[in-house]
Order: sequence, then structure tokens, then C-alpha cells
Amino acid sequence: MSPGEFSRRTAWSREPSELAALLEGAKQRGEKLIDLSQSNPTRVGLVDEGVLAKLRDPEGAHYAPLPRGLLAARESVVRYHARRGHSLSVEHVFLTASTSESYGWLFKLLCDPGEVVIVPKPSYPLFPFLAQLDGVSLEHARLMRHDGWRLDMEAIERRLVAAGPAVRAIVLVNPSNPCGAYVHRDDAAKLISLAADRQIALIVDEVFSDYPHAELSASSRLSFAGEDGALCFVMNGLSKVALLPQLKLAWIACSGPEVRRDEALSRLEIIADSYLSVGTPVQLALPSILDPVDSKQTGLRRRMAQNLDAIDAAIKQVGPSCPVRRMPTEGGWYAMMEVPRTRSDDEWIAHLLATERLVVHPGHFFDVEEQGVMVVSLILEAEVFAEAIGRAVRCWSRG
Ligand SMILES: Cc1ncc(COP(=O)(O)O)c(C=O)c1O
Repeated sequence: MSPGEFSRRTAWSREPSELAALLEGAKQRGEKLIDLSQSNPTRVGLVDEGVLAKLRDPEGAHYAPLPRGLLAARESVVRYHARRGHSLSVEHVFLTASTSESYGWLFKLLCDPGEVVIVPKPSYPLFPFLAQLDGVSLEHARLMRHDGWRLDMEAIERRLVAAGPAVRAIVLVNPSNPCGAYVHRDDAAKLISLAADRQIALIVDEVFSDYPHAELSASSRLSFAGEDGALCFVMNGLSKVALLPQLKLAWIACSGPEVRRDEALSRLEIIADSYLSVGTPVQLALPSILDPVDSKQTGLRRRMAQNLDAIDAAIKQVGPSCPVRRMPTEGGWYAMMEVPRTRSDDEWIAHLLATERLVVHPGHFFDVEEQGVMVVSLILEAEVFAEAIGRAVRCWSRG
């Protein structure tokens, strides 16, 4: 099999990472691990078997596809955003199979091969794959720790006027993963004005936007839905909103100045028509899933608040000299922990696995540049989480 048969886009290294190899070894030895990096809701007791009944509409046996998705389904997306104070038109909503697919469609819509999309760093580890699959070049805008995490706006402005391949879009993750910061209102205003002036798009990933924590500051912008100052694509989906990643349904809400928005919609319609990727049963079920979704989220929000408290309690229990800190977070499913730099991050991961049977993610998994940062998922069952984080904090404190 000659490598020449295949595209350069898919020439990925398939060597398992050191962490993956360690985990595989532990699993093969039958060790019982607690996975503090788990972000699959169906693996942390958040299984909703009742949803299966909603997929049984007899209409689902028929096929009458619409590129944007079935009207009643899109109307329920509009109602979801209306409950959050944003008025959208049903014609501006497209259903997709996942947020990953939404990224793919938007990269195809906006970029020729080699053109640039700016993404935040640290951030979502899938970006390099999604970009490469569409021949898009990624450049990074750093999220910097000041009071909370703020985008390096000066670097973004410098890049937009610099020579080099054209920048076609800026991706915002609102709130960011794993930093947990909503886009600051001042930065949002600046980004909208830059995007409008330079005719670039904002792609705003809001999959975690329904999960603010108590620490949310007044200067944070909760959503870009319906923003019409610049061409904006707000993305969300059932994976996080309804804790149903297995159903594979997400959406893009497009807004912006009328002429550019309508051109985007017409082109996006042809992309959507080429794939028609969302199954009919899940589209038919969408209103019955999304309409009551707000109350469904309450339990997880309470669980995450308990888990944040459990981290703080574990640190307090070690005492005032505890070298472990929890970084402030405004929202989302993760907490970032600062741990002593007595070991490298990968050594910490191996040590925690060997001595405590705990799995956490190292910061570099999310492109965090500094050492001494660990990321834990907040969606685990509260009892399991409290026990595990207590052990992790004590282990990190021993150095
Ligand atoms: C920032 C971010 N966007 C999107 C996704 C994935 O969403 P989907 O399951 O709809 O592809 C994730 C998954 O963890 C994520 O962290």
C-alpha cells in the first residue's frame, strides 16, 4: 500500500500517545480507574432512556428531506433561542449532524484551500483535524490570563492587517473549552466591528453556553445568536444542550448584514443539500426534546456546582499551604487545576494513574502552553467526583 494512494490530509501519525498507551495497559490489567476526564454524559449516569420513545413518530418511516432541516425542528431551535432572549428567523437555521459537521460546512462555505481561520488557544483539541480535513490553515489567538481569560485582541488585529494568506473567519468558543470564559463584552464588540470592516465571519461555538457557573461576571457575553453587526454563525447542538450526543443533531444559526447573510444562506443551502445528513426520526423528535430542555439541564448545573465546591473543599482540607489551585471558571464542563511543577505534566498523569488509579487530562491536550495545568471534567456523579478529586488534590500536594 503506497502512501501516494492517499491524500496528504489524512497522513496523521497513528502512534498512540504516551497517555493512551498507559491507559490501555491499565485497562488490559483490569484495573478499575476513575476517569476524571470523562465528558460523555451517557457514561456518568445521565442516560435518558425516555428519549427513545420520542424517536418513534411514524412519519419517520418516510423521506421528504429539506436541506435546512424539517420546519418544525427548526422552529423548536428558534424557540430555544427565544427563551434565551434572542430572536431568530427559522429560515436562518440549518440542522447538521454535529457541531463538528457544522465546522466542516462553514469551513467549506468560507475558505478556499490554504486560507486561514483563527482559533483560540488553549482550546478544543479537534480543531487541527477539522481544519485539515477541509484544507484550511489554522492560526491561533491566545487566550491570556488577566482577570479571567481574554483573547489577545492586539494579535488578532495585527494578523488581520498583515500580509499572508487571507483570514476568512475567527472562531470563538463561548464559553471556552477548557478555560470556561465567556467572550468579554468589550472583545465581542471589537471582534464584530473588525469582522464587519474586513468582511470576515465569526464562527461562534456555544455548545457550553447553557452552563454558566455562579462566578459569571457582568462583562461576559452569553451569546452571539442573532447578532447582525457582522456575519455570524452560532453553533450549538444536542450533545451538550440536551446531554444526548448519541442522537447526532446540531445546528447553525446564521445572522449578519442582510446581503452577506443571504448570500451565505444560499450557499450553505447547497452544502446542506449535498449531505442531507440529519436523520428524519431525530428531526421529528427535536421539539419534544428541546422544548423541555431547560429543566433537564438543572440537575447537571447543580451537580457541577457541587463538584466545584468539592474541589475547593479538597484544597481547603489540605490546609493553607496547599500548592494546588483551582482556576476561576465562568461556565462549561471543565475545571483547570494548577498543580506543583515538581513533575512534568505527563509525569503527573502517569503518577496519578499508577498511585491513585485516576485519569485526568494534561493542559497540553488543550494546547495550554504552561506546565502544571491539569483539566478535570465537572460532569461526574458528585459522590464519585468528591472522592476522586480529594485523592487527586492530596496526591498533587505531596509533590
Ligand atoms: C468546544 C466544543 N465544540 C463542539 C464539541 C462537539 O460537539 P458535537 O458533539 O456536536 O460535535 C465539543 C465536544 O466536546 C466541544 O468541546
